[in-house]
Amino acid sequence: MSIGSSPTLRRLHARDAATVLAAFASNSDMARQGDVSSQAEAEAYVDRLIAPDSPHEAWAVADGDTLVGLVCVSVDQANRNGWFWYWMTDAARGRGWTSRAAATVAHWALTVRGLERLELGHRVNNPASGAVARHAGFVKEGTERGKFLIDGERIDVDTYGRLRSDPCPAFEPLPFVET
Ligand SMILES: CC(C)(COP(=O)(O)OP(=O)(O)OC[C@H]1O[C@@H](n2cnc3c(N)ncnc32)[C@H](O)[C@@H]1OP(=O)(O)O)[C@@H](O)C(=O)NCCC(=O)NCCS
Repeated sequence: MSIGSSPTLRRLHARDAATVLAAFASNSDMARQGDVSSQAEAEAYVDRLIAPDSPHEAWAVADGDTLVGLVCVSVDQANRNGWFWYWMTDAARGRGWTSRAAATVAHWALTVRGLERLELGHRVNNPASGAVARHAGFVKEGTERGKFLIDGERIDVDTYGRLRSDPCPAFEPLPFVET
């Protein structure tokens, strides 16, 4: 994959299934993001996120038009809350793109989308995810001790939240594009 200098945010499309599959194959740490190991599973994964009645607001991080990552807000409309999650294909990591995308989407969710609280959790042995959360203005709220059993070991999960009334972090936004 050739990586450009500045990505954009656009809606996830059905045509992204093949690159979603490639992203899941790019690093074993993607396994916990869902069951995507075939084109059919990738299509089902994307379809679930973009279905007309879906509670998910899925934004593709695109290099040119090629999806390299995803930032998604799974909306609990009754409480005006959103569960916030993200991933980046291995070759595009470490460039600050997920942090910029997460900060941009969080700001959108708390303004344009009208949500009042965003929340997320990450395993404590995934510190990059915590860094992304903090770059996007999330505040650590606690630790769920021994939340997951992974390879015989109980792993803590740090929980984060961001309220509409929290200070907006300084960040370099990614442009939203319509395609
Ligand atoms: C977590 C993930 C999204 C990060 O993507 P990324 O594109 O590398 O993120 P960014 O480049 O925007 O920022 C990564 C930050 O983590 C930091 N980081 C990376 N590895 C780290 C480590 N081992 N310890 C501490 N910090 C680390 C980087 O230094 C950077 O912070 P900085 O900008 O303050 O220097 C990516 O690794 C991923 O997709 N992982 C698999 C899916 C996943 O875990 N998603 C989150 C689920 S909760």
